[in-house]
Amino acid sequence: MKLTPPSCLLALLIVGSALPSKAPAETLTIACGAVGIEYRLCREGAEAWGRRTGHQVRLVQSPNLSNNRLGLFQQMLASGSSDVDVFQIDVIWPGILGAHLVDLRPYVDSERLAGHYPALIANNTVGGELKALPWFVDVGLLYYRRDLLEAHGLAVPETWTALGEAARTVLEAERAAGNTRLTGYVFQARAYEGLTCNALEWIDSFGGGSVVEADGSISLNNPQAVRALETAAAWIGSVAPRGVLTYGEEDARGVFQSGNAVFMRNWPYAWALINGADSPVRGRVGVTSLPSGGAGGRHSATLGGWGLAVSRYSEHPALAADLIDHLTGPKEQARRAIAGAFNPTLPALYRDPALLAAQPLLADLAQAVERAVARPSTVTGERYNRVSTIFWNAVHDTLSGKASAGESLAAAERRLRRLSRGGRW
Ligand code: GLC
Repeated sequence: MKLTPPSCLLALLIVGSALPSKAPAETLTIACGAVGIEYRLCREGAEAWGRRTGHQVRLVQSPNLSNNRLGLFQQMLASGSSDVDVFQIDVIWPGILGAHLVDLRPYVDSERLAGHYPALIANNTVGGELKALPWFVDVGLLYYRRDLLEAHGLAVPETWTALGEAARTVLEAERAAGNTRLTGYVFQARAYEGLTCNALEWIDSFGGGSVVEADGSISLNNPQAVRALETAAAWIGSVAPRGVLTYGEEDARGVFQSGNAVFMRNWPYAWALINGADSPVRGRVGVTSLPSGGAGGRHSATLGGWGLAVSRYSEHPALAADLIDHLTGPKEQARRAIAGAFNPTLPALYRDPALLAAQPLLADLAQAVERAVARPSTVTGERYNRVSTIFWNAVHDTLSGKASAGESLAAAERRLRRLSRGGRW
Protein backbone atom coordinates (compact mmCIF):
# COMPACT_ATOMS: atom_id res chain seq x y z
CA MET A 1 0.00 0.00 0.00
CA LYS A 2 1.27 3.47 -0.84
CA LEU A 3 0.94 5.90 2.02
CA THR A 4 1.96 9.49 1.72
CA PRO A 5 3.12 11.17 4.88
CA PRO A 6 1.80 13.13 6.54
CA SER A 7 -1.11 14.39 4.43
CA CYS A 8 -2.97 11.07 4.59
CA LEU A 9 -3.33 11.50 8.32
CA LEU A 10 -6.57 13.13 9.21
CA ALA A 11 -5.78 16.13 11.30
CA LEU A 12 -9.01 16.22 13.16
CA LEU A 13 -8.72 18.45 16.11
CA ILE A 14 -6.79 20.95 18.11
CA VAL A 15 -7.38 20.78 21.81
CA GLY A 16 -6.09 23.06 24.49
CA SER A 17 -7.11 26.09 26.44
CA ALA A 18 -6.70 29.81 26.69
CA LEU A 19 -3.10 30.91 26.49
CA PRO A 20 -1.32 31.55 29.77
CA SER A 21 -0.12 35.08 30.28
CA LYS A 22 3.67 34.45 30.41
CA ALA A 23 5.26 31.54 28.49
CA PRO A 24 4.22 31.39 24.84
CA ALA A 25 1.92 28.45 24.21
CA GLU A 26 3.18 25.76 21.89
CA THR A 27 1.22 23.32 19.77
CA LEU A 28 2.21 19.68 19.95
CA THR A 29 0.99 16.99 17.59
CA ILE A 30 0.21 13.46 18.70
CA ALA A 31 -0.62 10.50 16.46
CA CYS A 32 -3.06 8.35 18.45
CA GLY A 33 -4.88 5.16 17.61
CA ALA A 34 -8.58 5.20 16.84
CA VAL A 35 -9.76 1.67 17.54
CA GLY A 36 -13.17 1.77 19.26
CA ILE A 37 -13.18 4.79 21.60
CA GLU A 38 -9.39 5.13 21.71
CA TYR A 39 -9.33 8.42 19.86
CA ARG A 40 -11.87 10.08 22.14
CA LEU A 41 -9.93 8.96 25.21
CA CYS A 42 -6.70 10.30 23.74
CA ARG A 43 -8.37 13.63 23.04
CA GLU A 44 -9.77 13.93 26.56
CA GLY A 45 -6.36 13.11 28.07
CA ALA A 46 -4.64 15.67 25.85
CA GLU A 47 -7.29 18.28 26.71
CA ALA A 48 -6.65 17.80 30.42
CA TRP A 49 -2.91 18.34 29.86
CA GLY A 50 -3.67 21.40 27.72
CA ARG A 51 -5.82 22.90 30.46
CA ARG A 52 -3.06 22.34 33.00
CA THR A 53 -0.18 23.70 30.94
CA GLY A 54 -1.81 26.21 28.61
CA HIS A 55 -0.36 24.48 25.55
CA GLN A 56 -2.32 22.99 22.70
CA VAL A 57 -2.35 19.51 21.27
CA ARG A 58 -3.25 18.65 17.70
CA LEU A 59 -4.48 15.10 17.29
CA VAL A 60 -3.97 13.09 14.14
CA GLN A 61 -5.70 9.80 13.59
CA SER A 62 -3.69 6.87 12.32
CA PRO A 63 -4.72 3.63 10.56
CA ASN A 64 -6.31 0.92 12.72
CA LEU A 65 -4.25 -2.05 11.58
CA SER A 66 -0.93 -2.12 13.36
CA ASN A 67 1.27 -2.83 10.35
CA ASN A 68 -0.43 -0.16 8.21
CA ARG A 69 0.28 2.29 11.00
CA LEU A 70 3.89 1.14 11.14
CA GLY A 71 4.35 1.71 7.40
CA LEU A 72 3.03 5.25 7.73
CA PHE A 73 5.11 6.10 10.79
CA GLN A 74 8.24 4.68 9.16
CA GLN A 75 7.77 6.96 6.17
CA MET A 76 7.14 9.99 8.34
CA LEU A 77 10.13 9.35 10.56
CA ALA A 78 12.42 8.46 7.66
CA SER A 79 11.67 11.88 6.16
CA GLY A 80 12.88 13.52 9.38
CA SER A 81 9.70 15.57 9.53
CA SER A 82 8.92 17.46 12.74
CA ASP A 83 5.17 17.39 11.99
CA VAL A 84 4.37 14.81 14.67
CA ASP A 85 5.91 15.13 18.14
CA VAL A 86 4.40 12.09 19.85
CA PHE A 87 3.72 8.69 18.32
CA GLN A 88 1.65 5.91 19.84
CA ILE A 89 3.82 2.86 19.23
CA ASP A 90 3.10 -0.87 19.38
CA VAL A 91 5.03 -3.05 21.88
CA ILE A 92 6.73 -4.74 18.93
CA TRP A 93 8.19 -1.55 17.44
CA PRO A 94 10.90 -0.21 19.78
CA GLY A 95 13.57 -2.14 17.86
CA ILE A 96 12.17 -1.06 14.49
CA LEU A 97 11.65 2.66 15.18
CA GLY A 98 14.10 3.17 18.04
CA ALA A 99 16.68 5.11 15.99
CA HIS A 100 14.08 7.83 15.35
CA LEU A 101 12.92 8.17 18.98
CA VAL A 102 14.18 10.26 21.88
CA ASP A 103 15.65 8.58 24.99
CA LEU A 104 13.03 9.41 27.61
CA ARG A 105 15.10 8.60 30.69
CA PRO A 106 16.37 12.14 31.25
CA TYR A 107 12.81 13.46 31.15
CA VAL A 108 10.96 11.02 33.38
CA ASP A 109 10.97 10.68 37.13
CA SER A 110 12.67 7.40 38.11
CA GLU A 111 9.98 6.56 40.66
CA ARG A 112 7.34 6.91 37.98
CA LEU A 113 9.35 4.56 35.77
CA ALA A 114 9.70 2.01 38.55
CA GLY A 115 5.90 1.86 38.81
CA HIS A 116 5.48 0.24 35.36
CA TYR A 117 5.76 -3.48 34.73
CA PRO A 118 9.53 -3.99 34.50
CA ALA A 119 9.03 -6.27 31.47
CA LEU A 120 7.42 -3.38 29.58
CA ILE A 121 10.22 -0.98 30.46
CA ALA A 122 12.72 -3.64 29.33
CA ASN A 123 10.71 -4.14 26.14
CA ASN A 124 10.85 -0.41 25.40
CA THR A 125 14.57 -0.11 26.11
CA VAL A 126 16.89 -0.36 23.10
CA GLY A 127 20.65 0.00 23.50
CA GLY A 128 20.13 1.36 27.04
CA GLU A 129 17.74 4.10 25.86
CA LEU A 130 14.08 4.21 26.86
CA LYS A 131 12.21 4.65 23.60
CA ALA A 132 8.61 4.80 24.86
CA LEU A 133 6.57 5.01 28.04
CA PRO A 134 4.10 2.14 28.40
CA TRP A 135 0.49 3.32 28.00
CA PHE A 136 -1.68 0.21 28.03
CA VAL A 137 -1.13 -3.49 27.86
CA ASP A 138 -3.15 -6.00 25.85
CA VAL A 139 -3.73 -9.74 26.18
CA GLY A 140 -5.76 -11.98 23.91
CA LEU A 141 -9.11 -13.00 25.47
CA LEU A 142 -12.00 -15.31 24.66
CA TYR A 143 -15.41 -13.63 24.61
CA TYR A 144 -18.44 -15.91 24.67
CA ARG A 145 -22.21 -15.56 24.60
CA ARG A 146 -23.17 -16.67 28.08
CA ASP A 147 -26.87 -16.80 27.19
CA LEU A 148 -26.32 -19.13 24.22
CA LEU A 149 -24.01 -21.52 26.09
CA GLU A 150 -26.52 -21.70 28.95
CA ALA A 151 -29.47 -22.22 26.63
CA HIS A 152 -27.70 -25.17 25.04
CA GLY A 153 -26.37 -26.63 28.30
CA LEU A 154 -22.70 -26.05 27.40
CA ALA A 155 -19.70 -25.20 29.58
CA VAL A 156 -17.19 -22.52 28.64
CA PRO A 157 -14.64 -24.41 26.50
CA GLU A 158 -11.27 -25.20 28.05
CA THR A 159 -9.59 -26.47 24.88
CA TRP A 160 -9.66 -25.45 21.22
CA THR A 161 -11.29 -28.77 20.38
CA ALA A 162 -14.03 -28.09 22.91
CA LEU A 163 -14.49 -24.60 21.45
CA GLY A 164 -14.97 -26.05 17.97
CA GLU A 165 -17.48 -28.60 19.30
CA ALA A 166 -19.43 -26.08 21.39
CA ALA A 167 -19.61 -23.68 18.44
CA ARG A 168 -20.88 -26.46 16.19
CA THR A 169 -23.54 -27.58 18.72
CA VAL A 170 -24.89 -24.06 19.21
CA LEU A 171 -24.81 -23.33 15.48
CA GLU A 172 -26.67 -26.46 14.48
CA ALA A 173 -29.42 -25.91 17.04
CA GLU A 174 -29.73 -22.16 16.43
CA ARG A 175 -29.72 -22.49 12.66
CA ALA A 176 -32.38 -25.20 12.83
CA ALA A 177 -34.44 -22.71 14.84
CA GLY A 178 -34.07 -20.10 12.09
CA ASN A 179 -31.10 -18.06 13.41
CA THR A 180 -29.29 -18.25 10.06
CA ARG A 181 -27.03 -15.23 10.58
CA LEU A 182 -25.24 -16.80 13.52
CA THR A 183 -21.65 -17.98 13.16
CA GLY A 184 -19.50 -19.88 15.67
CA TYR A 185 -16.11 -18.22 16.11
CA VAL A 186 -14.73 -14.91 14.88
CA PHE A 187 -11.12 -13.80 15.26
CA GLN A 188 -8.44 -11.90 13.35
CA ALA A 189 -7.25 -13.87 10.33
CA ARG A 190 -6.52 -11.18 7.78
CA ALA A 191 -2.88 -11.37 6.62
CA TYR A 192 -1.52 -8.81 9.12
CA GLU A 193 -0.03 -8.46 12.59
CA GLY A 194 -3.27 -9.49 14.31
CA LEU A 195 -3.02 -12.92 12.67
CA THR A 196 0.50 -13.26 14.06
CA CYS A 197 -1.01 -12.65 17.53
CA ASN A 198 -3.79 -15.23 17.05
CA ALA A 199 -1.51 -17.87 15.53
CA LEU A 200 1.12 -17.43 18.23
CA GLU A 201 -1.63 -18.15 20.77
CA TRP A 202 -2.67 -21.34 18.96
CA ILE A 203 0.89 -22.58 18.54
CA ASP A 204 2.05 -21.70 22.04
CA SER A 205 -1.10 -23.26 23.53
CA PHE A 206 -0.11 -26.56 21.88
CA GLY A 207 3.45 -26.25 23.23
CA GLY A 208 4.79 -25.38 19.79
CA GLY A 209 7.05 -22.45 20.79
CA SER A 210 6.98 -18.79 19.86
CA VAL A 211 8.33 -18.74 16.26
CA VAL A 212 11.77 -17.40 17.25
CA GLU A 213 12.91 -18.14 20.79
CA ALA A 214 14.68 -15.71 23.13
CA ASP A 215 18.09 -17.18 22.16
CA GLY A 216 17.39 -16.46 18.48
CA SER A 217 16.74 -20.06 17.48
CA ILE A 218 13.91 -20.59 15.01
CA SER A 219 11.31 -22.98 16.40
CA LEU A 220 8.49 -22.63 13.92
CA ASN A 221 8.34 -25.94 12.07
CA ASN A 222 7.42 -28.57 14.65
CA PRO A 223 4.61 -31.14 15.05
CA GLN A 224 2.72 -29.14 17.73
CA ALA A 225 2.73 -26.03 15.53
CA VAL A 226 1.42 -28.14 12.65
CA ARG A 227 -1.37 -29.50 14.87
CA ALA A 228 -2.24 -26.02 16.06
CA LEU A 229 -2.58 -24.67 12.52
CA GLU A 230 -4.50 -27.73 11.34
CA THR A 231 -6.94 -27.20 14.20
CA ALA A 232 -7.47 -23.58 13.22
CA ALA A 233 -7.70 -24.34 9.48
CA ALA A 234 -10.56 -26.77 10.17
CA TRP A 235 -12.68 -23.90 11.56
CA ILE A 236 -12.65 -21.93 8.31
CA GLY A 237 -15.89 -22.38 6.42
CA SER A 238 -17.31 -24.56 9.21
CA VAL A 239 -17.60 -22.86 12.62
CA ALA A 240 -15.90 -19.68 11.37
CA PRO A 241 -17.04 -17.81 8.26
CA ARG A 242 -14.57 -17.69 5.34
CA GLY A 243 -14.76 -13.94 5.81
CA VAL A 244 -12.51 -14.14 8.89
CA LEU A 245 -9.64 -14.36 6.41
CA THR A 246 -10.14 -10.61 5.95
CA TYR A 247 -11.00 -9.68 9.55
CA GLY A 248 -9.10 -7.33 11.81
CA GLU A 249 -10.09 -6.54 15.41
CA GLU A 250 -12.99 -4.24 14.57
CA ASP A 251 -14.45 -6.60 11.95
CA ALA A 252 -14.61 -9.43 14.49
CA ARG A 253 -16.09 -7.11 17.10
CA GLY A 254 -18.73 -5.87 14.64
CA VAL A 255 -20.00 -9.42 14.00
CA PHE A 256 -19.90 -10.44 17.66
CA GLN A 257 -21.38 -7.25 19.04
CA SER A 258 -24.30 -7.37 16.65
CA GLY A 259 -25.18 -10.76 18.14
CA ASN A 260 -23.99 -12.89 15.23
CA ALA A 261 -21.23 -15.02 16.78
CA VAL A 262 -21.02 -17.41 19.71
CA PHE A 263 -17.30 -16.84 20.40
CA MET A 264 -14.79 -14.11 19.62
CA ARG A 265 -11.07 -13.67 20.22
CA ASN A 266 -10.19 -10.05 20.88
CA TRP A 267 -8.27 -7.65 23.14
CA PRO A 268 -9.70 -6.16 26.37
CA TYR A 269 -10.89 -2.92 24.70
CA ALA A 270 -13.78 -4.89 23.20
CA TRP A 271 -15.20 -5.53 26.69
CA ALA A 272 -16.09 -1.86 27.26
CA LEU A 273 -17.81 -1.58 23.88
CA ILE A 274 -19.64 -4.91 24.08
CA ASN A 275 -21.15 -3.75 27.37
CA GLY A 276 -21.82 -0.21 26.15
CA ALA A 277 -25.34 1.23 26.43
CA ASP A 278 -25.98 0.76 22.70
CA SER A 279 -24.63 -2.79 22.43
CA PRO A 280 -27.18 -5.45 21.37
CA VAL A 281 -25.31 -8.09 23.44
CA ARG A 282 -24.79 -5.97 26.55
CA GLY A 283 -24.95 -8.13 29.71
CA ARG A 284 -25.04 -11.40 27.74
CA VAL A 285 -21.31 -11.90 27.28
CA GLY A 286 -18.63 -13.57 29.38
CA VAL A 287 -14.87 -13.24 29.00
CA THR A 288 -12.15 -15.70 29.93
CA SER A 289 -8.73 -17.08 28.96
CA LEU A 290 -8.30 -18.43 25.47
CA PRO A 291 -8.56 -22.24 25.29
CA SER A 292 -5.53 -24.48 25.69
CA GLY A 293 -4.20 -26.93 23.13
CA GLY A 294 -5.22 -29.85 25.35
CA ALA A 295 -2.95 -32.37 27.08
CA GLY A 296 0.51 -30.84 27.52
CA GLY A 297 -0.76 -27.47 26.35
CA ARG A 298 -1.62 -24.26 28.15
CA HIS A 299 -3.93 -21.27 28.01
CA SER A 300 -1.83 -18.82 26.01
CA ALA A 301 -2.43 -15.15 25.40
CA THR A 302 -0.27 -12.91 23.23
CA LEU A 303 1.12 -9.84 24.94
CA GLY A 304 0.17 -6.67 23.11
CA GLY A 305 -0.10 -3.05 24.01
CA TRP A 306 1.08 0.41 23.13
CA GLY A 307 3.41 3.06 24.44
CA LEU A 308 3.99 6.73 23.75
CA ALA A 309 7.22 7.91 22.18
CA VAL A 310 8.74 11.28 21.28
CA SER A 311 10.10 11.78 17.79
CA ARG A 312 13.79 12.66 17.51
CA TYR A 313 12.70 15.33 15.03
CA SER A 314 10.27 17.02 17.43
CA GLU A 315 11.02 20.71 18.00
CA HIS A 316 9.69 20.42 21.58
CA PRO A 317 11.03 17.17 23.05
CA ALA A 318 10.80 18.26 26.70
CA LEU A 319 7.21 19.42 26.32
CA ALA A 320 6.31 16.28 24.38
CA ALA A 321 7.84 14.17 27.17
CA ASP A 322 5.72 16.11 29.67
CA LEU A 323 2.58 15.35 27.65
CA ILE A 324 3.31 11.62 27.60
CA ASP A 325 4.22 11.66 31.27
CA HIS A 326 0.72 12.99 31.90
CA LEU A 327 -1.00 10.54 29.54
CA THR A 328 0.80 7.50 30.98
CA GLY A 329 0.39 8.59 34.62
CA PRO A 330 -1.78 6.67 37.12
CA LYS A 331 -4.78 9.01 37.04
CA GLU A 332 -5.08 8.94 33.30
CA GLN A 333 -4.45 5.16 33.09
CA ALA A 334 -7.19 4.57 35.69
CA ARG A 335 -9.62 6.75 33.74
CA ARG A 336 -8.87 4.86 30.52
CA ALA A 337 -9.24 1.50 32.28
CA ILE A 338 -12.72 2.42 33.52
CA ALA A 339 -13.98 4.11 30.36
CA GLY A 340 -12.41 1.86 27.76
CA ALA A 341 -10.99 -1.28 29.43
CA PHE A 342 -7.49 -0.23 28.41
CA ASN A 343 -5.33 -2.20 30.83
CA PRO A 344 -2.91 -0.22 32.96
CA THR A 345 0.83 -0.74 32.69
CA LEU A 346 1.18 0.12 36.40
CA PRO A 347 0.75 -3.05 38.53
CA ALA A 348 -0.38 -0.99 41.57
CA LEU A 349 -3.58 -0.07 39.72
CA TYR A 350 -4.59 -3.75 39.56
CA ARG A 351 -4.66 -3.72 43.37
CA ASP A 352 -6.54 -0.43 43.72
CA PRO A 353 -9.95 -1.27 45.32
CA ALA A 354 -11.74 1.73 43.82
CA LEU A 355 -10.50 0.89 40.34
CA LEU A 356 -11.32 -2.81 40.73
CA ALA A 357 -14.84 -1.90 41.82
CA ALA A 358 -15.28 0.30 38.75
CA GLN A 359 -13.68 -2.18 36.29
CA PRO A 360 -13.94 -5.74 37.75
CA LEU A 361 -12.34 -7.25 34.64
CA LEU A 362 -8.98 -5.98 35.87
CA ALA A 363 -8.86 -8.46 38.75
CA ASP A 364 -8.53 -11.34 36.27
CA LEU A 365 -6.23 -9.54 33.91
CA ALA A 366 -3.28 -8.97 36.22
CA GLN A 367 -2.23 -12.63 36.06
CA ALA A 368 -3.00 -12.87 32.37
CA VAL A 369 -0.66 -9.94 31.70
CA GLU A 370 2.15 -11.50 33.71
CA ARG A 371 1.81 -14.86 31.92
CA ALA A 372 1.29 -13.54 28.41
CA VAL A 373 3.56 -14.72 25.61
CA ALA A 374 5.61 -12.06 23.87
CA ARG A 375 6.18 -11.94 20.15
CA PRO A 376 9.85 -12.30 19.21
CA SER A 377 10.37 -8.58 18.61
CA THR A 378 13.21 -8.03 21.07
CA VAL A 379 15.42 -10.80 19.71
CA THR A 380 14.72 -10.00 16.03
CA GLY A 381 14.96 -6.23 16.58
CA GLU A 382 14.56 -4.14 13.46
CA ARG A 383 13.80 -7.29 11.42
CA TYR A 384 10.69 -8.15 13.46
CA ASN A 385 8.19 -6.91 10.89
CA ARG A 386 9.75 -9.11 8.21
CA VAL A 387 9.68 -12.09 10.57
CA SER A 388 6.04 -11.46 11.36
CA THR A 389 5.13 -11.00 7.69
CA ILE A 390 6.69 -14.38 6.82
CA PHE A 391 4.80 -15.97 9.70
CA TRP A 392 1.37 -14.44 9.08
CA ASN A 393 1.58 -15.23 5.36
CA ALA A 394 2.37 -18.89 6.13
CA VAL A 395 -0.57 -19.03 8.53
CA HIS A 396 -2.88 -17.29 6.07
CA ASP A 397 -1.89 -19.73 3.30
CA THR A 398 -2.79 -22.61 5.62
CA LEU A 399 -6.11 -21.15 6.73
CA SER A 400 -7.15 -20.31 3.19
CA GLY A 401 -6.27 -23.83 1.99
CA LYS A 402 -3.43 -22.73 -0.35
CA ALA A 403 -0.93 -25.04 1.35
CA SER A 404 -0.93 -27.58 4.17
CA ALA A 405 0.23 -26.55 7.63
CA GLY A 406 3.38 -28.67 7.24
CA GLU A 407 4.28 -27.15 3.85
CA SER A 408 3.64 -23.57 4.93
CA LEU A 409 5.60 -23.86 8.16
CA ALA A 410 8.54 -25.59 6.44
CA ALA A 411 8.67 -22.85 3.79
CA ALA A 412 8.37 -20.10 6.40
CA GLU A 413 11.13 -21.65 8.48
CA ARG A 414 13.46 -21.67 5.44
CA ARG A 415 12.68 -17.99 4.84
CA LEU A 416 13.34 -17.14 8.48
CA ARG A 417 16.68 -18.93 8.34
CA ARG A 418 17.71 -16.90 5.31
CA LEU A 419 16.55 -13.67 6.95
CA SER A 420 18.45 -14.42 10.14
CA ARG A 421 21.53 -15.87 8.52
CA GLY A 422 20.95 -19.15 10.39
CA GLY A 423 19.51 -17.80 13.65
CA ARG A 424 21.98 -14.92 14.17
CA TRP A 425 19.76 -11.89 14.43
C1 GLC B 1 -3.36 -4.76 19.43
C2 GLC B 1 -2.13 -4.99 20.29
C3 GLC B 1 -0.88 -4.84 19.48
C4 GLC B 1 -0.94 -5.76 18.29
C5 GLC B 1 -2.18 -5.50 17.46
C6 GLC B 1 -2.30 -6.51 16.34
O1 GLC B 1 -3.43 -3.44 19.06
O2 GLC B 1 -2.10 -4.11 21.38
O3 GLC B 1 0.25 -5.10 20.27
O4 GLC B 1 0.22 -5.66 17.49
O5 GLC B 1 -3.33 -5.57 18.27
O6 GLC B 1 -3.43 -6.34 15.59
